[in-house]
Amino acid sequence: MKYATSIFAVAILALFLVMPANMNAQAKYVGAKTCGMCHKSEKQGQQLKIWSESKHAQAYKALTTAHADEISAKKGGKKAAENPECLKCHVGEKALVESAFKEDGVQCETCHGAGSDYKTMSVMKNKEEAKKKGLILHEDAAKFCTTCHNSNSPTFKSFNYAEYWKKIAHPTPKG
Ligand code: HEC
Ligand code: HEC
Ligand code: HEC
Ligand code: HEC
Repeated sequence: MKYATSIFAVAILALFLVMPANMNAQAKYVGAKTCGMCHKSEKQGQQLKIWSESKHAQAYKALTTAHADEISAKKGGKKAAENPECLKCHVGEKALVESAFKEDGVQCETCHGAGSDYKTMSVMKNKEEAKKKGLILHEDAAKFCTTCHNSNSPTFKSFNYAEYWKKIAHPTPKG
């Protein structure tokens, strides 16, 4: 009996040790507007404006036409805007599709990761800390782009990294 009780106690203790770690792993999506609170001034580089004027911000909308539904019908879905096969490239992973921000299409967090844990000023100013808290940067950006810009896209024609990057580049100004 005593033995059983202590096994039980150890099991409960182990559960408590494991639980918070798992919960931390669930970073949440916060949306482009939240990122834009800091990434909109000229000094920061106006990332919010550059993105919102890009085609990526329209990528969900592109699924809401009759033309898109026709393409979708051939891929096992009726409505393109509800077809996971389309949404994975036109929005991002399932958790983002199920968030409040789906209609923003390919957005900051599609490419940089869910921001709830890295979006605070003190974390953002420390690149290594931000990466630990889920910020995704891309050393090989061209390779990253081709995870979507490839022949699995039903309308794919071609992808030229240098030419395409110019259209969406959003650098932080030096100095
Ligand atoms: C509270 C203000 C704030 C918010 C909110 C914020 N950022 Fe930042 N972010 C910064 C600052 C400050 C830097 C550092 C810029 C610099 O190097 O001068 C930064 C840097 C970055 C970098 C570049 C990191 C590097 O060192 O290369 C990326 C990418 C980034 N932020 C993405 C995001 C995304 C995506 C969101 C929304 C989920 C977001 N940020 C929200 C303030 C913020
Ligand atoms: C592998 C990623 C990927 C998948 C899967 C995907 N798309 Fe796209 N889609 C893209 C990319 C990237 C573009 C932009 C291509 C460009 O302009 O170079 C695009 C563009 C489009 C466009 C606008 C351009 C045009 O020629 O009409 C429509 C409409 C579209 N996709 C519909 C769909 C539908 C419907 C599905 C699901 C059946 C789907 N896509 C699945 C990546 C994808
Ligand atoms: C289509 C993917 C994509 C989207 C959407 C996107 N970014 Fe980026 N971003 C990148 C890539 C790729 C880079 C360059 C390599 C890197 O640092 O990750 C980058 C770089 C950055 C940088 C660093 C710039 C520098 O000079 O070091 C910041 C800051 C940033 N992004 C913020 C944002 C914010 C804020 C949004 C939304 C308003 C956003 N990004 C949307 C892919 C994206
Ligand atoms: C998560 C999937 C995804 C990723 C990753 C992605 N894109 Fe896209 N991109 C799309 C989709 C979907 C469209 C089509 C949007 C539309 O037509 O409404 C698109 C459209 C574009 C366009 C507009 C093309 C045109 O017809 O004018 C450019 C430019 C572009 N992407 C550049 C890039 C670059 C550069 C990268 C890498 C840094 C990148 N994209 C990464 C999904 C993605």
